[in-house]
Amino acid sequence: MLAVIPNFDMGKEASSRGDITIVVDALRFSSSVIAGLGSGAEAFIPVKTLGEAKRLYRLDDRLILAGEREGIKPNGFHLGNSPTELKQADLGGKTVVITTTNGTRALEFSKGSKWRLIGSFINATAVSAVASRLAGKEKDISIVLASRYGEIFLEDFVCAGLLASRIAGELEAMNDEAMAARLAWIAIEHDHERIIRRSSHAVHLERIGYGEDVRFCLQIDLYDLVPYVRGGKIVRLQPVS
Ligand code: MLT
Repeated sequence: MLAVIPNFDMGKEASSRGDITIVVDALRFSSSVIAGLGSGAEAFIPVKTLGEAKRLYRLDDRLILAGEREGIKPNGFHLGNSPTELKQADLGGKTVVITTTNGTRALEFSKGSKWRLIGSFINATAVSAVASRLAGKEKDISIVLASRYGEIFLEDFVCAGLLASRIAGELEAMNDEAMAARLAWIAIEHDHERIIRRSSHAVHLERIGYGEDVRFCLQIDLYDLVPYVRGGKIVRLQPVS
């Protein structure tokens, strides 16, 4: 079974079933982590609060602080939750502490899963291949979207549809949300960037000066790398061949 879990607070159930979990926050947490690891970062440490990030930095000033509140880089942080900033930063061998509004919390809610992968448009084929391989014939896959309170973010829903298309061919093996997401992807796959740029979060990011991030995050398969959570840190997993 392939399931799309539309709100991350429902991710706990997927984790307790032992599903392979893919956390999707295309704009922008997932994409930031992928871009940062692509720039040579050794690991990301996801934390929930600004205070926790700053506390870790006081203990070790070699850490890099990245994150956002309302989309903006917090005071005292080195980098925003910006994949284009992380891509350009000199991160070789560095550990990045990251805190974001929804993405880092979505990860937290899935923490019962043995395998927590991070997915986005920019690593769609790689993360789908790894999830399929890890699931084999026995395990289920849950794609957990980074939204709450019954909201749906268009970019994450459509991205889940793209992953669902890559993971499974058979509609019968999906929950209704996965089928709907897949149909949404099929409907706009030739024009997804133009349409998703009209979504509420894309418009917000554009308005606060992060239009370049939006365009970056909506590209498909820029990276062949899959982040996953190991011992509280997000590190790079080579695609399973
Ligand atoms: C989040 O975690 O809520 C997002 O990644 C917000 C953002 O675009 O910075």
